[in-house]
Amino acid sequence: MNNMPEHVAIVMDGNGRWAKNRGLPRAAGHKAGIDALRGTVEHSIYRGIKTLTVYVFSSENWQRPDDEVALLIELFIAALNDELDELDKNNVRLSFIGDISVFPDALQASVARAGRRTSANSGLNLIIAINYGGRREIMSACKKLFAAWSKESGSVDDISEESFRKRLDLPDYPDLFIRTGGEVRISNFLLWQLAYTEMYFTDVYWPDFNTLEYDKALESYVGRQRRFGRTSEQVREK
Ligand code: IPE
Ligand code: IPE
Ligand code: MG
Repeated sequence: MNNMPEHVAIVMDGNGRWAKNRGLPRAAGHKAGIDALRGTVEHSIYRGIKTLTVYVFSSENWQRPDDEVALLIELFIAALNDELDELDKNNVRLSFIGDISVFPDALQASVARAGRRTSANSGLNLIIAINYGGRREIMSACKKLFAAWSKESGSVDDISEESFRKRLDLPDYPDLFIRTGGEVRISNFLLWQLAYTEMYFTDVYWPDFNTLEYDKALESYVGRQRRFGRTSEQVREK
């Protein structure tokens, strides 16, 4: 496929309903979700995707029942520890966005270790959004900008889109956004970054998102013309 996206961002939704449909506890859905993520990482490598950003836990997910939050944290630590060798072997570079400071030490330690272990890798950039919220990220970038601006007693005119972008957790713009699970919303993911991202929504629940489904999303992207405000004629002439 020509014209493939370089950066794919995914809201991996539908684990709970996938499990419910099978008469299983939600935990089973989250476990199956980890397998789907492993497959998605492998297929991203196969398809030559440069960056994959995945939404694992939102700043709003704390509102879930305590036992589900605890389980998600436990599963995350276990999955990260279990997969680290294989990810490293596959030349994947791991990084994390979101506020991890509120998580238990074990999670913070796993995250730090995974980042360190894979920092020199040159393959797929896998960015994991955990306790991430787009509004918080924008507020925090504003605060950083304001702090720098006050220190340097700069002029308001020095504040640019670029100086703001640089202070975001994720200073990159995904080409393709995928949301599984049937909901057609962003749920506070990458609010600034998605301004010109191509959107793809599927009813498939995350645990059922396999290479075939991933390819459907990629094919949909490949067939689109990104105009960024221009006319199709202008884009074709470029
Ligand atoms: C996504 O699946 C995983 C997380 C948000 C952590 P859900 O748990 O939201 O699954 P549904 O939406 O209830 O089916
Ligand atoms: C979005 O899914 C967050 C993640 C997939 C981590 P949710 O299931 O939390 O989103 P809402 O609540 O349906 O908007
Ligand atoms: Mg959901």
